[in-house]
Amino acid sequence: MSGRLRAVLALLIVGGAALFVYALGEPPTPKPLPPPSNGVNVVAAAGPEAKPGVLDSAENCKRCHAEIYAEWESNYHSQAWTDELFKGLSNDYRETSCHTCHAPRPLHETGFATAEARRTDRSSGINCLTCHKKGNHVVGSIRDPEGTAEYPADCGPVYDPDHADHGAQQTTIQYCGVCHNLHGTHEEFLGSAYAREGKTCLSCHMPEVQRPLVPGGRVRRTSSHRLPGAHSLEMLKRAMRIDVRKQGGRLRVRVVNQGAGHKIPTDARHRAIHVRVSFVDAYGAPVPVPSPLDTEGAPDKTVSMDLVRLFYRWQQIEPTQVDPLGTLGKPNERESSIEIPAGARGGKAIVRLYYLLVWNWHPETRGQLVDEKVVELDG
Ligand code: HEC
Ligand code: HEC
Ligand code: HEC
Ligand code: HEC
Ligand code: HEC
Repeated sequence: MSGRLRAVLALLIVGGAALFVYALGEPPTPKPLPPPSNGVNVVAAAGPEAKPGVLDSAENCKRCHAEIYAEWESNYHSQAWTDELFKGLSNDYRETSCHTCHAPRPLHETGFATAEARRTDRSSGINCLTCHKKGNHVVGSIRDPEGTAEYPADCGPVYDPDHADHGAQQTTIQYCGVCHNLHGTHEEFLGSAYAREGKTCLSCHMPEVQRPLVPGGRVRRTSSHRLPGAHSLEMLKRAMRIDVRKQGGRLRVRVVNQGAGHKIPTDARHRAIHVRVSFVDAYGAPVPVPSPLDTEGAPDKTVSMDLVRLFYRWQQIEPTQVDPLGTLGKPNERESSIEIPAGARGGKAIVRLYYLLVWNWHPETRGQLVDEKVVELDG
């Protein structure tokens, strides 16, 4: 069974409560974004238009842009509609308010304030047309210093008035903010050091690739369409680590947000980060401890000492997410501590950081191990 399918089954088992929260408890009203500063309201397009039919379906893009198409097929945008989890939680698609971001119309046509639902070809989710179609041409950002792009009659010519604005940060992050601000990812980013340095969502999620856009085309600076996120171990390692120290008979552990451009975790409330700890004595035998998070639970060989997440409203718990670097007045780390048991003197503490796609999964069996630190304890 694939990891994704397993994730789906688990969430379906988590079941009713989650459905209530997502579908009913919290109407998906995205926070309004500032109006785009450029690009969107320009209507006139210059040059000839695409061959009839090319812009009817995202599948037509595959013929010439096979590599980008394959990248998109492998990412989560292409599955935004067919995702079993989405199907289940949207009450078998009956909850129409969910359609807007999961099967949207072209953003260059509807504008960047909120996404609008489309009625056709929904199974392709967030597709090429969502981000690139505008009337009878495509909008892109070939960063061509000489401005001498040769445009094909088939998909373009893509020259249009928006083109010149595309390097602008406002426009590129606007693409993402339309849908990724339901729980404030966009705003978390804007408050971080990364935004001040001039980075965008693309700096980390759509890094530059040197390649031709079409077979035999000129090699250009293009953007990867793989869009890795929380399903990628490489990204998780880049985002977070743990620092561990001993102080006054306690073990202090910091979860550090070292490289995500927003909180960890961001957006989805079913995601979570667990800090797990275990102690062994001088002979390597486990020393069970009670979990500081579950004071009624019996001591165990491995326990959670911190849980980092955005909680559902019905849980009525303040979020414990860790802010990104450079957020005003907020550290990009979060500390928790646990008493070192007497029996572990001369032994070791083993601390592990796990990322969970679904918060109440068992960390050791279903979480992704992201970092581990072993600390020697004095005798
Ligand atoms: C404002 C745009 C927007 C609306 C409206 C919206 N979603 Fe989403 N949804 C998103 C974004 C963005 C993500 C990705 C979040 C992430 O990965 O952190 C997402 C992710 C999800 C996921 C998680 C998929 C996974 O693999 O973890 C599910 C399930 C989901 N949405 C269901 C719904 C349901 C059900 C509704 C209607 C009640 C809905 N969404 C309405 C934007 C939206
Ligand atoms: C018949 C081949 C062909 C088809 C079909 C095609 N394209 Fe293109 N596309 C090209 C070529 C050639 C270029 C320019 C490449 C260059 O100059 O390096 C291009 C460029 C682009 C650009 C960059 C534009 C810019 O100004 O930055 C985008 C975006 C784009 N295509 C999107 C699409 C989408 C979306 C589809 C499907 C609806 C599509 N293309 C279908 C051949 C095609
Ligand atoms: C039209 C709405 C929409 C737009 C625009 C959009 N996204 Fe998404 N994005 C989603 C939804 C919905 C999902 C979750 C799909 C699923 O798994 O069902 C998602 C998933 C993702 C994921 C995968 C998350 C994970 O957990 O692995 C990343 C990364 C991401 N988006 C980044 C971006 C970036 C960067 C941009 C801007 C270039 C962007 N998105 C634009 C709606 C959107
Ligand atoms: C400085 C690099 C960086 C920037 C900038 C950045 N991200 Fe991320 N993002 C990451 C890393 C690393 C992860 C993996 C850690 C994680 O999932 O929390 C991630 C994860 C995600 C996820 C998966 C969410 C989840 O629930 O954990 C989404 C969705 C996402 N990013 C969207 C965005 C959007 C939208 C923007 C722009 C507003 C953006 N990112 C800007 C580095 C970045
Ligand atoms: C979630 C939005 C999104 C989707 C879906 C998407 N793209 Fe893109 N695409 C972008 C962004 C953002 C850029 C870079 C633009 C910028 O830097 O302003 C880009 C750039 C491009 C370019 C120009 C060269 C480059 O890489 O900078 C081409 C060609 C392209 N995309 C084709 C496609 C095709 C074909 C599909 C479908 C298989 C697709 N895109 C799906 C957002 C998207």
